[in-house]
Parts: sequence; C-alpha cells; structure tokens
Amino acid sequence: NRSVDQISLRAHELLTKFYHHIFSHAKEAEQARSYLENRGLTKETIERFQIGFAPDSNELTTQFLQKKDFNLQELISSNVLARNDQSQIYDRMRGRVVFPIRNHLAKTVGFAGRSINELEPKYLNSPESALFQKGKLLYNFDLARSELKRTGQAILFEGYMDVIAAYQADITNVIASLGTSVTEHQAALIKRYVDTVVICFDGDDAGINASYKVAKLMKKAGCQVRIATLPDQLDPDAFIKKYGGKRFKEEVIEASSTYMSFIMSYHKREFNLKIEADQMAYMRLVVDEIAQLNSALDRDRYIRELAKMFDLSPDAVLEDVDQIRKKQG
Ligand code: CTP
Ligand code: MN
Ligand code: MN
Ligand code: MN
Ligand code: MN
Repeated sequence: NRSVDQISLRAHELLTKFYHHIFSHAKEAEQARSYLENRGLTKETIERFQIGFAPDSNELTTQFLQKKDFNLQELISSNVLARNDQSQIYDRMRGRVVFPIRNHLAKTVGFAGRSINELEPKYLNSPESALFQKGKLLYNFDLARSELKRTGQAILFEGYMDVIAAYQADITNVIASLGTSVTEHQAALIKRYVDTVVICFDGDDAGINASYKVAKLMKKAGCQVRIATLPDQLDPDAFIKKYGGKRFKEEVIEASSTYMSFIMSYHKREFNLKIEADQMAYMRLVVDEIAQLNSALDRDRYIRELAKMFDLSPDAVLEDVDQIRKKQG
C-alpha cells in the first residue's frame, strides 16, 4: 500500500513529463508555445525548467494518470486532482502553462500554473500538503544550491519568471519564494547557504514595501542584506528582457543598496523633509533603525550619515542611539 506522499511524488513526476510533452508536441499547446517564445524563453530554458502545458480538458490528465495505475480516490486524497461541487474530477492546472516546483532533492512536489488567456488568478499554485509547504520551499533551490555556496550570495526574487529569466542570462544563484511572503523558515534556510542576500523585488509599490519587510527578516536571520531597486516599475524579468543580463548584473545587482541606505531612503517617502516636524520624525525613525544594527562599525557609519544630512553633531545622534540600545538591553 502506497502512502499519500509516495502517490503524490510519483504522480507529480509523471505529470511533469506529461505536461512538458504536451507543451512540446501537442497542437493545442500552440498558444502556450508562442506565449513563452514571446516572453523570450529559449528551448533550452524550457527543457531545464521542465515547463509544460496542462491540457484544457477534464479527461486527458485524469485518463493519463489512470493508465499509470492510479485510482481516482488516491489522486484526490493526495491532492493531485480536485473534485468540484458537482463531483466532477478535474485538473486544477488545465489550460495553463505549468511550472513544476521542485524540492531541494529536485523532485516535483507542486505546480504553478500561469494563465495565458487573462483568466484569474494569474498564477494558480497546487494546494498545501505535507510535501508542498509553500513557506518552506524556495523556487529553484535545487539548481541554485551549489551556486549559492560558491558565490556566498543569493539573489531573491518575487516570481518564477524572474528566476527563469535570470537563469537564462547565466545568473544562476537565483531563488524565489512561492507567491507568499518570505517566512522565517525560508530566511533561515537561505542563511545556511549564503552570507549575503540581494533582495530584488518588483519596482512597483508592492515590491518596494515587500523589500522593506523581507530586508528586516533577512537581517534578523543574520544575513548581510542588499536591496536592488528596479526602475520604471519594471520587474526583473521585464528588465532582463528589455536591457539584457549584462546590464541587469551591472545596473541592478551590483548597484544594489546597502541595508541602511535602503532603509533611509525608504522612510523618506513618508515625510516632507522640508518641514521641520517631519525632519524630526524622520530622524527619530532612522535613529531607531540605526539602534537595531548589531555592528558598531555600521552604526557609526550611519550615525555620521544622518548627522551630515541634517547638519547635526554625530555625538548627539550617538547619544540617542545609545539610549535606545540601553532601553532594549
Ligand atoms: N503569485 C501567485 N498568485 C498570483 C499572483 C502572483 O502565486 N495570483 C506569485 C507567483 O509566485 C509570482 C509572484 O507571486 O511569480 C510574483 O507576482 P507577479 O509579480 O504578479 O508575477 P510575475 O512573477 O511577474 O509573473 P509574470 O511575469 O508571469 O506576469
Ligand atoms: Mn523535453
Ligand atoms: Mn509583483
Ligand atoms: Mn513581477
Ligand atoms: Mn514578471
């Protein structure tokens, strides 16, 4: 008797091949093929990430799995297939371009299906299960792992396509969370492999706000944190498509900000620094942030920067920083 996990692993392995085969050969995947071609993915990339297409029918996926000796009940209880209100069994990914999500052992444990016809949601992920815990997995971790170790640096993206576009441009120390915000568990996992993480989220407001949250989280996990910001609301995948991997490396990754300089400019958005009351409030916020820094060298550097910005004496800033640190013990 096979366990739910065994069934799920085997089914995901077979489905990865099935979807990929449909993508590569079926007439009905023509739109999916031109979709990815227009997005600039090469054949080699599609192979490497085993990207597929789920047939837009309720029977094909089910029949395929049944021929492979699964019964419907076990496919439903292991969350591979779904059942709707009318008791019809269906494939959640149907009609979507499918990105297999592999665990650290390179086994597919879930799928992300991207809509190619404006159907919402844009991405549909497999449901949570024992094997597919979105807060514990990192997209592309299996391929990136050795590169993380070798470079000591991880580039953390928001999206699957960002990882894939970067990888295609030979930037291979790249991972992403699975559509949820980054968890402490994921932060600790990243920290086990690298000292430095470059947070490279989308250039829109949502991306910038998420960068702030995740920067704090990664810092707390003990990483050196850098934050890359993208121009013109672009996301990494769109930037690479528009300007190429070389410029992405030089103008985005290498030009990324340090943790504190990002924090200092992030908080500026909330204030009008021409107004004195706002200046004071801003200074207090930044002093608070400086007090959280563990390294005395780091603190000294930003104390000087803040002092210079408002023409204060560094000693006065230091005094406030020290006071906050004493209170926090
Ligand atoms: N996401 C999700 N469900 C959605 C929208 C987004 O799970 N309905 C997750 C996906 O992991 C996605 C990431 O959040 O990759 C970032 O979202 P977004 O920036 O909107 O998507 P992109 O990665 O840019 O996707 P694409 O380039 O295909 O539009
Ligand atoms: Mn193939
Ligand atoms: Mn986004
Ligand atoms: Mn995006
Ligand atoms: Mn995108």
